[in-house]
Amino acid sequence: MKKTAVKPSKTKTQSFYDRIADVHNIALRMNGYRASVTKYLRSLDLKLNERSMVLDAGSGTGIVSLGFADTKLPHQGLVAFDLSHKSLELANEEFRNARIDKRKFVTIQGNVLETPFADDSFDLVLTCGVLEYVSLDEGLKELSRVLKPGGKLVFIPVKPSLVGSMLELLYKFKIHPVEDVKRISQRYFNIVGNHEFPIREPIAWSKTIFLLEKP
Ligand SMILES: C[S@@+](CC[C@H](N)C(=O)[O-])C[C@H]1O[C@@H](n2cnc3c(N)ncnc32)[C@H](O)[C@@H]1O
Repeated sequence: MKKTAVKPSKTKTQSFYDRIADVHNIALRMNGYRASVTKYLRSLDLKLNERSMVLDAGSGTGIVSLGFADTKLPHQGLVAFDLSHKSLELANEEFRNARIDKRKFVTIQGNVLETPFADDSFDLVLTCGVLEYVSLDEGLKELSRVLKPGGKLVFIPVKPSLVGSMLELLYKFKIHPVEDVKRISQRYFNIVGNHEFPIREPIAWSKTIFLLEKP
């Protein structure tokens, strides 16, 4: 008997982001988020070179990837990775329209808990607003697996705050308490620093930054 191909069903989160990707993308572009990410990344000594590979885990529509592109830091390629097809479609459109070396920016769809990458693939991993959808332990474990020893993880979680709580309701995620972020990060990384964005930048109202290094 001929087998019928069955499409894997979308998770609730994937369907949600496929639906809201357009609006979410417009909202993100209005609040200086990209510039804040660029400024922060430029302040770091990331030790990247022309062979460095970068992963934006849970890239959504690509704002953090574009923030990285604006730093002009050397790299061989950047993978924007996300569950939502629609968000990645928009990320591709943004990459096509941006003044960047487009050949270096690719998108891959998948689950951050089961990425298709080999161990020690990336020199730098950026992740913002995605680990709130998964077990923090499993998410950090997977990101540590794909990062090279000595590589950095720039982890930008949503922090407990008034704006954070509003986003939690709007975007249907769960903020991880800062104490959990610290405790669980230490299982897989050395914590290099916990920084705050300058308070006049809107991103500071809802996000904090953990700079982690894989031992
Ligand atoms: C709040 S958005 C953040 C997007 C982007 N990093 C930013 O800062 O604008 C959360 C993103 O995480 C993605 N996401 C949620 N769960 C995921 C998972 N298990 N694996 C991969 N991506 C996931 C969603 O599709 C969505 O694009």
